[in-house]
Amino acid sequence: MTFTEEWFGPGSCLDLAGLVEDVEDVPGLIIEIGSWEGRSTIAIANACRPRVVHAVDTWKGSAGEPSEVLAARRDVFATWQANITEQTAGNVQAHRCDWRFYLESLNRADPPTVAFVFIDAEHDFQSVYDCIAAVRPFMAEGGIICGDDIHHPPVISAVFESFPDEPIQQLGPIWARRL
Ligand SMILES: C[S@@+](CC[C@H](N)C(=O)[O-])C[C@H]1O[C@@H](n2cnc3c(N)ncnc32)[C@H](O)[C@@H]1O
Repeated sequence: MTFTEEWFGPGSCLDLAGLVEDVEDVPGLIIEIGSWEGRSTIAIANACRPRVVHAVDTWKGSAGEPSEVLAARRDVFATWQANITEQTAGNVQAHRCDWRFYLESLNRADPPTVAFVFIDAEHDFQSVYDCIAAVRPFMAEGGIICGDDIHHPPVISAVFESFPDEPIQQLGPIWARRL
Protein backbone atom coordinates (compact mmCIF):
# COMPACT_ATOMS: atom_id res chain seq x y z
CA MET A 1 0.00 0.00 0.00
CA THR A 2 1.50 3.35 -1.02
CA PHE A 3 0.22 6.77 -0.11
CA THR A 4 2.72 9.49 -0.97
CA GLU A 5 0.74 12.62 -0.18
CA GLU A 6 -1.41 13.18 2.91
CA TRP A 7 -4.34 14.88 1.23
CA PHE A 8 -7.16 12.95 2.89
CA GLY A 9 -6.63 11.98 6.52
CA PRO A 10 -8.09 9.16 8.65
CA GLY A 11 -10.76 11.45 10.17
CA SER A 12 -11.96 12.45 6.73
CA CYS A 13 -12.02 8.78 5.64
CA LEU A 14 -14.30 7.98 8.60
CA ASP A 15 -16.57 10.97 7.94
CA LEU A 16 -16.80 10.10 4.25
CA ALA A 17 -17.66 6.48 5.06
CA GLY A 18 -20.44 7.72 7.36
CA LEU A 19 -21.93 9.83 4.57
CA VAL A 20 -21.84 6.85 2.20
CA GLU A 21 -23.65 4.70 4.78
CA ASP A 22 -26.37 7.37 4.87
CA VAL A 23 -27.34 6.54 1.25
CA GLU A 24 -27.57 2.80 1.86
CA ASP A 25 -31.27 2.87 0.98
CA VAL A 26 -31.01 5.39 -1.85
CA PRO A 27 -30.87 3.77 -5.30
CA GLY A 28 -28.35 4.99 -7.85
CA LEU A 29 -24.70 5.35 -8.76
CA ILE A 30 -21.94 6.02 -6.24
CA ILE A 31 -19.42 8.38 -7.87
CA GLU A 32 -16.08 9.80 -6.80
CA ILE A 33 -14.55 12.68 -8.75
CA GLY A 34 -10.85 12.99 -7.85
CA SER A 35 -9.19 9.82 -6.56
CA TRP A 36 -5.40 10.37 -6.72
CA GLU A 37 -3.79 7.42 -4.90
CA GLY A 38 -7.09 6.14 -3.58
CA ARG A 39 -7.51 7.18 0.04
CA SER A 40 -11.04 8.47 -0.47
CA THR A 41 -11.84 5.76 -3.04
CA ILE A 42 -11.04 3.05 -0.49
CA ALA A 43 -13.12 4.73 2.21
CA ILE A 44 -16.12 4.94 -0.13
CA ALA A 45 -15.71 1.44 -1.58
CA ASN A 46 -15.51 -0.28 1.79
CA ALA A 47 -18.49 1.66 3.11
CA CYS A 48 -20.77 0.89 0.14
CA ARG A 49 -19.83 -2.66 -0.91
CA PRO A 50 -21.12 -4.63 -2.70
CA ARG A 51 -22.21 -1.51 -4.61
CA VAL A 52 -19.64 -0.24 -7.09
CA VAL A 53 -17.78 3.06 -6.79
CA HIS A 54 -17.27 4.84 -10.11
CA ALA A 55 -13.90 6.56 -9.63
CA VAL A 56 -13.43 9.38 -12.13
CA ASP A 57 -9.96 10.88 -12.50
CA THR A 58 -7.53 11.81 -15.26
CA TRP A 59 -4.73 10.82 -12.85
CA LYS A 60 -2.86 13.77 -14.40
CA GLY A 61 -3.30 16.06 -11.41
CA SER A 62 -5.31 19.27 -11.26
CA ALA A 63 -4.42 21.94 -13.84
CA GLY A 64 -2.31 24.68 -12.28
CA GLU A 65 -2.09 22.91 -8.90
CA PRO A 66 0.89 21.08 -7.33
CA SER A 67 -0.66 17.70 -8.17
CA GLU A 68 -0.13 18.42 -11.89
CA VAL A 69 3.65 18.60 -11.37
CA LEU A 70 3.68 15.50 -9.15
CA ALA A 71 1.61 13.46 -11.62
CA ALA A 72 4.04 14.25 -14.44
CA ARG A 73 6.84 12.62 -12.44
CA ARG A 74 5.27 9.27 -11.58
CA ASP A 75 2.48 6.84 -12.47
CA VAL A 76 -0.21 7.83 -9.97
CA PHE A 77 -2.80 5.64 -11.71
CA ALA A 78 -0.65 2.52 -11.19
CA THR A 79 -0.35 3.36 -7.49
CA TRP A 80 -4.13 3.88 -7.27
CA GLN A 81 -4.73 0.50 -8.95
CA ALA A 82 -2.37 -1.31 -6.55
CA ASN A 83 -3.94 0.34 -3.51
CA ILE A 84 -7.47 -0.50 -4.68
CA THR A 85 -6.51 -4.12 -5.31
CA GLU A 86 -4.99 -4.43 -1.86
CA GLN A 87 -7.51 -2.49 0.20
CA THR A 88 -10.94 -3.14 -1.35
CA ALA A 89 -13.12 -6.07 -2.37
CA GLY A 90 -12.75 -4.95 -5.99
CA ASN A 91 -16.04 -3.01 -6.10
CA VAL A 92 -14.43 -0.07 -7.90
CA GLN A 93 -14.58 0.92 -11.56
CA ALA A 94 -12.08 3.43 -12.91
CA HIS A 95 -13.09 6.07 -15.44
CA ARG A 96 -9.80 7.58 -16.58
CA CYS A 97 -11.05 10.83 -18.05
CA ASP A 98 -12.06 14.39 -17.28
CA TRP A 99 -15.15 14.50 -15.06
CA ARG A 100 -16.82 16.74 -17.68
CA PHE A 101 -16.58 13.93 -20.21
CA TYR A 102 -17.81 11.34 -17.69
CA LEU A 103 -20.83 13.39 -16.65
CA GLU A 104 -21.67 14.20 -20.30
CA SER A 105 -21.56 10.47 -21.01
CA LEU A 106 -24.23 10.00 -18.33
CA ASN A 107 -26.29 12.51 -20.27
CA ARG A 108 -26.02 10.48 -23.45
CA ALA A 109 -27.22 7.30 -21.78
CA ASP A 110 -30.62 6.85 -20.20
CA PRO A 111 -30.28 9.42 -17.45
CA PRO A 112 -29.17 7.29 -14.49
CA THR A 113 -29.83 8.24 -10.93
CA VAL A 114 -26.93 9.20 -8.70
CA ALA A 115 -27.16 8.34 -5.01
CA PHE A 116 -23.81 9.77 -3.93
CA VAL A 117 -21.10 11.95 -5.40
CA PHE A 118 -17.87 13.02 -3.73
CA ILE A 119 -16.11 15.93 -5.46
CA ASP A 120 -12.37 16.39 -4.91
CA ALA A 121 -10.83 17.40 -8.25
CA GLU A 122 -9.83 20.98 -9.14
CA HIS A 123 -10.16 23.60 -6.39
CA ASP A 124 -11.00 26.72 -8.42
CA PHE A 125 -14.45 28.30 -8.10
CA GLN A 126 -15.67 27.63 -11.62
CA SER A 127 -14.68 23.94 -11.68
CA VAL A 128 -16.36 23.18 -8.36
CA TYR A 129 -19.46 25.19 -9.32
CA ASP A 130 -19.68 23.54 -12.76
CA CYS A 131 -19.18 20.07 -11.33
CA ILE A 132 -22.01 20.51 -8.83
CA ALA A 133 -24.26 21.94 -11.56
CA ALA A 134 -23.43 19.09 -13.94
CA VAL A 135 -24.19 16.30 -11.49
CA ARG A 136 -27.16 17.79 -9.68
CA PRO A 137 -29.79 16.93 -12.35
CA PHE A 138 -28.95 13.25 -11.90
CA MET A 139 -29.29 13.18 -8.11
CA ALA A 140 -31.82 10.85 -6.51
CA GLU A 141 -34.10 12.10 -3.77
CA GLY A 142 -32.23 11.60 -0.52
CA GLY A 143 -28.92 11.44 -2.37
CA ILE A 144 -25.81 13.26 -1.17
CA ILE A 145 -23.49 15.66 -3.01
CA CYS A 146 -20.34 16.25 -1.00
CA GLY A 147 -16.73 17.27 -1.44
CA ASP A 148 -13.43 18.05 0.19
CA ASP A 149 -11.65 21.27 1.14
CA ILE A 150 -14.47 23.50 2.36
CA HIS A 151 -11.78 25.61 4.09
CA HIS A 152 -10.48 26.66 0.65
CA PRO A 153 -12.12 30.02 -0.25
CA PRO A 154 -12.95 29.26 -3.90
CA VAL A 155 -14.51 25.96 -2.81
CA ILE A 156 -16.60 27.63 -0.07
CA SER A 157 -17.85 30.23 -2.55
CA ALA A 158 -18.75 27.62 -5.16
CA VAL A 159 -20.61 25.46 -2.63
CA PHE A 160 -22.58 28.32 -1.09
CA GLU A 161 -23.45 29.80 -4.51
CA SER A 162 -24.60 26.38 -5.66
CA PHE A 163 -26.88 25.88 -2.67
CA PRO A 164 -28.09 29.36 -1.67
CA ASP A 165 -30.26 29.29 1.44
CA GLU A 166 -29.86 25.53 1.74
CA PRO A 167 -28.18 23.93 4.76
CA ILE A 168 -24.67 22.63 4.18
CA GLN A 169 -23.30 20.03 6.57
CA GLN A 170 -19.61 20.35 7.49
CA LEU A 171 -17.51 17.46 8.76
CA GLY A 172 -13.97 18.78 9.17
CA PRO A 173 -12.91 19.76 5.65
CA ILE A 174 -15.79 17.85 4.04
CA TRP A 175 -18.97 19.66 2.93
CA ALA A 176 -22.18 17.79 2.25
CA ARG A 177 -25.66 18.54 0.97
CA ARG A 178 -28.43 15.97 1.19
CA LEU A 179 -31.06 16.41 -1.53
C1 LIG B 1 -6.73 16.45 -4.42
S1 LIG B 1 -6.57 15.13 -5.52
C2 LIG B 1 -7.75 13.96 -4.92
C3 LIG B 1 -7.36 13.38 -3.60
C4 LIG B 1 -8.11 12.11 -3.27
N1 LIG B 1 -9.54 12.35 -3.09
C5 LIG B 1 -7.53 11.43 -2.06
O1 LIG B 1 -8.28 10.82 -1.28
O2 LIG B 1 -6.30 11.46 -1.89
C6 LIG B 1 -7.35 15.75 -6.96
C7 LIG B 1 -7.53 14.71 -8.07
O3 LIG B 1 -8.41 15.24 -9.04
C8 LIG B 1 -7.98 14.83 -10.32
N2 LIG B 1 -8.51 15.79 -11.30
C9 LIG B 1 -8.23 17.11 -11.40
N3 LIG B 1 -8.93 17.66 -12.39
C10 LIG B 1 -9.70 16.68 -12.91
C11 LIG B 1 -10.66 16.64 -13.97
N4 LIG B 1 -10.98 17.74 -14.66
N5 LIG B 1 -11.27 15.47 -14.24
C12 LIG B 1 -10.96 14.36 -13.52
N6 LIG B 1 -10.05 14.33 -12.53
C13 LIG B 1 -9.44 15.48 -12.23
C14 LIG B 1 -6.46 14.85 -10.22
O4 LIG B 1 -5.87 14.03 -11.21
C15 LIG B 1 -6.25 14.34 -8.80
O5 LIG B 1 -6.06 12.95 -8.78
